[in-house]
Amino acid sequence: MLKGKNILLGVTGGIAAYKAADICSRLVKNHANVDVIMTENALNFITPNTFEGLCHNKVTTDTFDRNHPFEVEHIALADKADCVIIAPATANIIGKLANGIADDMLSTTLLACECPKLIAPAMNTHMWNNPIVQDNIEKLKRYGFIIIDPESGHLACGYNGSGKLAKPEVIVDWIINTCAHEKDMKGLKVVVSAGPTCEDLDPVRFLTNRSTGKMGYSIASAAASRGADVTLVSGPVELPAPAGVEVVNIRSAADMFREITSRQDRTDIIIKAAAVADYRPVTVADNKIKKKDDGSDLSLPLERTDDILKFLGDHKKAGQFLCGFSMETENMVENSRKKLEKKNLDLIAANNVKVEGAGFRGDTNVLTLISRNSETELPLMSKWDAAHRLLDEIMRLR
Ligand code: CTP
Repeated sequence: MLKGKNILLGVTGGIAAYKAADICSRLVKNHANVDVIMTENALNFITPNTFEGLCHNKVTTDTFDRNHPFEVEHIALADKADCVIIAPATANIIGKLANGIADDMLSTTLLACECPKLIAPAMNTHMWNNPIVQDNIEKLKRYGFIIIDPESGHLACGYNGSGKLAKPEVIVDWIINTCAHEKDMKGLKVVVSAGPTCEDLDPVRFLTNRSTGKMGYSIASAAASRGADVTLVSGPVELPAPAGVEVVNIRSAADMFREITSRQDRTDIIIKAAAVADYRPVTVADNKIKKKDDGSDLSLPLERTDDILKFLGDHKKAGQFLCGFSMETENMVENSRKKLEKKNLDLIAANNVKVEGAGFRGDTNVLTLISRNSETELPLMSKWDAAHRLLDEIMRLR
């Protein structure tokens, strides 16, 4: 995803510096060329050898190092970069950047960089919450820096709270979103639904399905990386929020109906990848349903949920693009076409769960994209690639 891109990784002196090696490795696996600048303090936490072994470029620390070729002089590194990430970013580098201080290789290079600049802070909770640091963060945002907020959790200093470096995979997602794609969806408002819904029976039981949310999360992430303003309405899944996407967590089909239909009027493209329950229990018991003492069977009365996509199709506004998914085990194309017509869709992405590599499980899918006048069979590919092919088709048809 980052083939041909030059990523400049700045590493500053904090315990989380070891996680920068993971970030570096993930960037290289995504085929990026990675240059690393370490501050003097970072050298106390991790050695340049680690990064050099991973990215095969000489790590820079000292502005006045006579052993470097001209190409790694700070202006050259700044000019070459497609994106800069500082991870971890200490309160010190944040303060320096916010105030134009350039007194070492990293800060001088950053001042000369015109490409997108990402900052992933990591520090003690009290330092992070300090109004001086927060003012500096606000200032950096005003200057166009992208801040990847730290997470909450147990910190190395023994505190529990915010200040933990965002996960390496989340940071790499941000980098991909920032520089991997042409921004052909800029200005478009996109709503994506993902994951299963859970229909409660009682306080301990619910009806659900095997959806993992991976397809919908890939679509949301891909649309954000193409510049769209994305809201992801998600059922319960085990996935991290995609970078740059607003996530609205829901539980039931009724919650999803509310959160999506209330956004319909302000949305250009709606993509419904969620596996929504078609039925829910007629009543939700306040207490756990107990077994019958006489050993008799139990029947559960179920009622239909609203078909969200049908409602959206019936209320489609002019120029709005509606894309559904269709999961079938037989007569896939024929049944999916019927759904396209019935729900007034512009496109339906059909997949047959019985086909190897397709459906809920795993990181791949096999989609057939069906519109009123076209039918495109995509080969087996990663859900990320399938997401981009789906978005390509939507952009072509709009
Ligand atoms: N869908 C929806 N609301 C529902 C059920 C489904 O919005 N209550 C959407 C799904 O998000 C998907 C599309 O409709 O985009 C098709 O879902 P699918 O389960 O394949 O088909 P159904 O229309 O539910 O029909 P069936 O289950 O009978 O195949």
